[in-house]
Parts: sequence; structure tokens; C-alpha cells
Amino acid sequence: MAFEYQDTPGDTEWFVHDRFGMFIHWGIYAAAGRHEWVKMYEKMTDEEYQKYFDHFDPDLYDPKQWAKLAKEAGMKYFVITSKHHDGCCLWDTQLTDWKVTNTRAGRDLLAPMVEAFRNEGLKVGFYHSILDWHHPDYPIGGTHPRIEDEEFMKANRDRDGSKYVEYLHGCVRELLTNFGKVDIMWFDGGEHSAEVWRSEQLIEMIRSLQPEIIINDRARVPQDITTPEQVQLAEPLRDEDGKLLVWESCQTFSGSWGYYRDQLDWKSPEMIVKMLVDGVSKGGNMLFNVGPTGRGEIEPRAVERLKAVGAWMRLHGRSIYGCGPSEFTPPADGRLTQNAAGDRLYLHIFSWPFKHIYCPGLGDKVAYAQLLNDGSEIAISDAEAMHHRLPEHAKNTLVLEIPVQKPLAAVPVIELFLK
Ligand code: GLC
Repeated sequence: MAFEYQDTPGDTEWFVHDRFGMFIHWGIYAAAGRHEWVKMYEKMTDEEYQKYFDHFDPDLYDPKQWAKLAKEAGMKYFVITSKHHDGCCLWDTQLTDWKVTNTRAGRDLLAPMVEAFRNEGLKVGFYHSILDWHHPDYPIGGTHPRIEDEEFMKANRDRDGSKYVEYLHGCVRELLTNFGKVDIMWFDGGEHSAEVWRSEQLIEMIRSLQPEIIINDRARVPQDITTPEQVQLAEPLRDEDGKLLVWESCQTFSGSWGYYRDQLDWKSPEMIVKMLVDGVSKGGNMLFNVGPTGRGEIEPRAVERLKAVGAWMRLHGRSIYGCGPSEFTPPADGRLTQNAAGDRLYLHIFSWPFKHIYCPGLGDKVAYAQLLNDGSEIAISDAEAMHHRLPEHAKNTLVLEIPVQKPLAAVPVIELFLK
């Protein structure tokens, strides 16, 4: 093995292989179309927020289309918001009436999604918000739409948080009992301590229901995966023994997770590919988010970009799936990934230079090189002949001769076969 991961209680083997997943933030906030935090940002009361519950009507919802798109983009798993901070459940829970079943949707929206993605061969994950702005027993912490309303806060001083914790555990039990095999449990918003949430007990229950499941770190107890948000890490994460930690960065098109009509600073497919590559070169996955509309569609801005990412993945998946960080140093403007067997390196070229690429430390290591998009040979310069051009300290440098014309790929990749 070229790289070794820390052992985890859940099964992370498939996860570090698959590398790329779809995050879906979908709930009644899509009707507002201005961030899933709209209730908080605009300090809405329950009565004010009710209009989204009353008017959410996903008449165009077709999860088969979503699943096809995710697959076409090269994604191998998905994580859907079973409940976000507004508390509205996407499935037909027996534990509250605050669920989409009672909106104009009139049905469980989660079950057909799970089925559609599973049918396309994707693994299934649930994002579940611990934070809840609707439940009357939620122990209010630092984040609540009414936190500045003294009267409200006074009236809610004596909430019985333990009732909410019961509810939270009950919801998780339903999610992990009623939908077949669930591969990831992704918590968020655990603003209180693990003691408050009875996280140890929660995790014990989860593992007894779904022994192989992967659990993230946001229920305030570190589990299988670390899930930093909208960041690219500088280097791989390791434990004290030098083993890699399993991590996943979640990212958005434009900053918001839920559908945001008027947000315009969308990332390009090239930037998204670079973020994925950069993460894999540091041992991480990328969970890339879509925020479907109130009518239940993934909007054209997202579809177009995901298809472009998919076109890149079709030709370059070999440098992503099953790959991880390399022991070698990448050349300037490049990222290196290495396959698990350790006999191939993938050089991702972030900016196309003139004629030569210099790879330090690889001078005597590479038997053959080719572009990945078309399998065309890349000449390796005769190191001896290059010696007069290279300073002494750079003698074990691999010199690749690249065409002047950059291939038609968002990020060109050179596959290096090690000796
Ligand atoms: C944050 C936000 C949230 C989003 C999540 C994704 O914690 O509260 O809206 O769901 O990050 O990682």
C-alpha cells in the first residue's frame, strides 16, 4: 500500500476509494430560495416561517433524475438532509407532524430518493441536524432565530432538553431502521456537549442497528470521519503514528447549501475539479452540494456544471478513485495522487507550462508516461542530456516533454508508471 489509513470502527474502505459524493440540502427552505438559514438570518417566528411549510410543493420532484445526474458526475455516494436546522423532517416520521408529508408534497420524500440512488449504485448517507429551531423542547444554545427576543427567551427558559434528546434518538432510530442499509450518518449542529446529546449512547445504538456505518465527528465525539466545511486542507491529516485520518471536505457551488436563487458567484467546473484533485492529493474526499428548488428540481446552473465535471471524471477517474496522497513532491502548479498499489502516479497540471515539467526526486523512478485523457505518450527527456541545463541539486529530476497545446481537459493529467 502506498498510503495507510487509521483503523476506524465503521467500514471506511469503500469511502477512501470512492472519493466523490453528492451532498443534498433540500427542505421547505427551498421555497424561500435564500439560504437554508433564512429563518435564523431573518429572525423569523414559527408563524412567519409557516408560509414555507404551507407553500412547499415539489411537483417536479423526480429523484431518479437526481441519481442519474450524480452518477454521471462521477459521484459514488450521496448524503441527504433528513432534517435541517428548521426541524422539518423529509420522511414520514411517527415522532412529529412537522414533516413534509403534511405539506403540499403530501408524501415521504426520502424513501424514493434512497431507492433511486441505490438503484444507480450509489451509497446512502443521512445528514441529520441536531440543532433544531422548531422543536419546543430543544435546549436553546447559541443559535436560535429568537435568541434576541427577551420575552421569548424568558418564556422558554425551562425547556426540558431531555425530551428533545429522546426525540433526536428516536428520529435516528427510525432513519436507521426504515430505509435498509445506510452507509453514512452525518450529524451537524451539535452545539452542546456530547453529555447533553447522550452521544455515546446514540452511537452505540447506531452501531447496533447498522454495524458497518460511517459516522462523522459532529455529534461531539470523534468517530470514523472528520468533516471540515468549505475548506481545502494544506496537507494530509495524520494520527500520532503517522497513519492517515479519513476526512471529507464538503463544498458548495456558491456558498449557500440550500437553494439560493440570487447568489451568483458560482464555481466553474474547472475549479470544482481542482478542489476534488487537491483534496485527494491530501487524502480527503469531497462531498459536493446541490440545493434543489422548491419544485423539486436540480437547477440548470448545477446540472450544466456537474455534467462538465462528469466529462472530466469519465476520462480521469483513474487518478481519483482508489488514489490518495503520494510520497513524492509535486512540481510547481501540480498535484500528485498515487494509486493504492503504489505503482502509478498521477500528475495533475493546474497551469499548463511551456514544453517541460520538472518533477523532483523522480528522475530514476519512471518507466513510462502518458496523458490520461487520450492515452498518448509523453516523452521523458534523457536526464543525462539535460544535465547541463539542471543545477547539481536537481539531478534526480524527471523531465517531461509536454506538447505546447494543452489538451481539452479542465485539468490535464499525466499518468506516470513507476519502475
Ligand atoms: C453548517 C450549516 C449548515 C450546513 C452544514 C454543512 O453547519 O449550519 O447549514 O448544512 O454546515 O456542512
